[in-house]
Amino acid sequence: MTSSPPALPGGTWNLGDRTVTRFGYGAMQLAGPWVMGPPADHDGAIAVLREAVDQGITHIDTSHAYGPRVTNHLIREALHPYPASLLIATKVGATRDAEGGWPTARRPGDLRQQVHENLESLGVESLDLVNMRMGDATGPQPGSITEAFETLAELQEQGVIRHLGVSNVTAEQVADARKVAPVVCVQNMYNLAHRHDDPLIDDLAADGIAYVPFFPLGGFTPLQAEALSALATRLNATPMAVALAWLLQRSANILLIPGTSKVAHLRENVTGAALALSAQDVAELDSISG
Ligand SMILES: NC(=O)c1ccc[n+]([C@@H]2O[C@H](COP(=O)([O-])OP(=O)(O)OC[C@H]3O[C@@H](n4cnc5c(N)ncnc54)[C@H](OP(=O)(O)O)[C@@H]3O)[C@@H](O)[C@H]2O)c1
Repeated sequence: MTSSPPALPGGTWNLGDRTVTRFGYGAMQLAGPWVMGPPADHDGAIAVLREAVDQGITHIDTSHAYGPRVTNHLIREALHPYPASLLIATKVGATRDAEGGWPTARRPGDLRQQVHENLESLGVESLDLVNMRMGDATGPQPGSITEAFETLAELQEQGVIRHLGVSNVTAEQVADARKVAPVVCVQNMYNLAHRHDDPLIDDLAADGIAYVPFFPLGGFTPLQAEALSALATRLNATPMAVALAWLLQRSANILLIPGTSKVAHLRENVTGAALALSAQDVAELDSISG
């Protein structure tokens, strides 16, 4: 008999008909520099993915565009055949060019091809969750999501996709997508220092929709703020632990997908996210977003 891992900080959340741990894992930075090419440490990347599952994590975020296809292939190598409890979320809406850019590709034919690429590189017959990624590298942009989301909804009806989400979107695009098909999650940039989505998070929580912040630790630029360092020192914790614990406490519909290429950091983050922040601690952190 194998023993199950201890419960992860934050407990679980229902994404459609699937239950996932609120503490998940984001695979993007497992690829090479600037998310292009293979990782410097292939075996280390495989070890991180296996450790995530061993820790009990049941939500991994990826995309065919990472590498491109590098993180999907790593996930497949490390974890296929996938545990029934594991939900792999992917996203479509962009490809990669030779310079490492992320050209948008959102016409119906582009999206069908990207869904197919995800199926093939992950080695599955249907995708658990596909996010329709909008906007550009600077963030969400106005513009219609309807045609793109209709294409994904068709693939969902055909059984190729189980659940749909949206990413890098405005509140209007979330509302428009929901007119086409159910949206189980919104994946936007959000962390202690970037809180533009505060009202959206509360609206989604009221409707039982998950909010999945990308760059929870600041992404390519680690979160740095005097109030964060001061609080972390006082609590004898790392700034990463404080940032993750704050997200888990911010709202029950927030799901974490912090990225790391190191097993030690993954373990540190899992332990750190269990930190209990007092109302006074939260008030101090609120000053960061200005
Ligand atoms: N929808 C979108 O448009 C979009 C955009 C960007 C990202 N995403 C998703 O969001 C996920 C999270 O974003 P992200 O990985 O770019 O950024 P992140 O989670 O904010 O930060 C990851 C960075 O933090 C470092 N880190 C993590 N734990 C650490 C620790 N305990 N100590 C020191 N450093 C630590 C990692 O370095 P080490 O490797 O050295 O640990 C890595 O450089 C991605 O994996 C991806 O799946 C989605």
